[in-house]
Amino acid sequence: MILVTGGAGFIGANFILEWLGCGDEAVLNIDKLTYAGNIDNLAPLKSDARHIFVRADIGDTSTIGTLLKKYQPRAIVHFAAESHVDRSIHGPADFIETNIVGTFRLLESARAYWQSLPDDARQSFRFLHVSTDEVYGSLSADDPAFSEMTPYAPNSPYSASKASSDHLVRAYYHTYRLPTLTTNCSNNYGPRQFPEKLIPLMIINALAGKALPVYGDGKNIRDWLYVDDHCSAIRTVLAKGVPGEVYNIGGNAEMANIDVVHTLCRLLKEIYPDKDFTEQITFVKDRPGHDRRYAINAEKICTQLGWRPRETFATGLAKTIRWYLDHQDWLDAVNNKTYQQWIDRHYVQG
Ligand code: NAD
Ligand code: TYD
Repeated sequence: MILVTGGAGFIGANFILEWLGCGDEAVLNIDKLTYAGNIDNLAPLKSDARHIFVRADIGDTSTIGTLLKKYQPRAIVHFAAESHVDRSIHGPADFIETNIVGTFRLLESARAYWQSLPDDARQSFRFLHVSTDEVYGSLSADDPAFSEMTPYAPNSPYSASKASSDHLVRAYYHTYRLPTLTTNCSNNYGPRQFPEKLIPLMIINALAGKALPVYGDGKNIRDWLYVDDHCSAIRTVLAKGVPGEVYNIGGNAEMANIDVVHTLCRLLKEIYPDKDFTEQITFVKDRPGHDRRYAINAEKICTQLGWRPRETFATGLAKTIRWYLDHQDWLDAVNNKTYQQWIDRHYVQG
C-alpha cells in the first residue's frame, strides 16, 4: 500500500479517487481535517476496504510511527499543507507549523521507518513531496518560465514555508539517502477545490449574484493545470522518477486573472443565457507582495518521464463548472459559518 498525507483536501482527494480508480493498491490516508480537509470528498470510498482513513497530524511522530509500522507502505505521497496564500498573510504561524515543522517531523518518521526496512524494500521505497511553483518567486512578462534550475525566491509566507520544506526534503536525500522525489506544480483547478481559491470562488460568487473580486489590475498571470493532470504527473513521478530529482509540472496555460474571470463568465453565460456575469466583476485592493507572473517549463517531466497533460484550459474549466453546478450539496456543506468568517475577515474587513 501507499501512504497519502492530506488526502481529504482538494488535490489529495482527487489523487486517491483516481489511484483507486485505476488500480487495487490500498491507500492509508492521514489527514488532520483542518478547515480545508473534507472527508465528504472521499464519500465514494465509504465502504471501500482499500481506503483506510486516520485523522492525525503529520507532526504527531508517535502516531505516524505506529501507523508506518502497522501498514508498511512502500511509498509516502505528501500533500498535507496549509495552502492558501491569503491566509498565510493574515496568519503565517500555521504555515510554519505544518509546512515546515510538520514536514520535518514526517521526514524523521519516514527515515526511521525506511531504515528499519529490509534491503529490497529500502531500495524501492519513495517519499514524494508535493510542492508548488511559487517557491521560484515572480516572473516579469518576458522572463523564461521556471525550470528545475531556477533559484528559489519565495515571496509569501506560504511559498517561503513550502520552499523550506523542499530544502528539508532535498537535505534528507543528500544526507541520509532517503529516496525522495519533489514535484513543483503550477496552479491547479478542478472538482473539490475549497472555494477560497480563485476559480471556485468566482464560480460560486457568480451563481450567487455576488461580486467577483479581482485583486489589483487583474493582470497577474498564473499557469493553470487541471487537477487530474497533476495527479497523473504524480503517479508518473512515483513510478519512474529518479530519487533525489525534482520535476516541474505545468500545463502551458498561462492566463491573466481577468481573462480567467471573463472566460468563466462566458462559459456560465452559455448555461444561463439571460445573465451577464461580467457585471459582477469588481476590482479590489491588491494582495500584499502579489507575485506578478508564474509560468512552468515542464520539459523535464515530459521528455524524461513521458508525461503529458490531457486537458486544455477550456476543457478543464468546462468540466470544473459542471462539477460545481452538479454538487450543490457539497457547496452547502463547505459554505459554513467558519468559511463565512474567513470571507468576512478577508473581503469585508480587509
Ligand atoms: P488543501 O488546502 O485543499 O488540502 C490540504 C489538506 O491537508 C487538507 O485536507 C488538510 O486537512 C490537510 N492538512 C493540513 N495540515 C495538516 C497536518 N498538519 N496534518 C495532516 N493533514 C493536514 O490543499 P491542496 O490544494 O489540495 O494542495 C495539496 C498540496 O499540493 C499542498 O502541499 C500544496 O502546497 C500543493 N500544491 C497545490 C497547488 C494548488 O493549486 N492547489 C499547486 C501546486 C502545489
Ligand atoms: P489563488 O487561487 O489564491 O492561488 P495563488 O495565490 O496560489 O496563485 O489565486 C490565484 C490568482 O488569483 C492570484 O493571482 C490571486 C488572484 N485572486 C483574485 O484576484 N481574487 C481572489 O479573490 C482570489 C482568491 C485570488
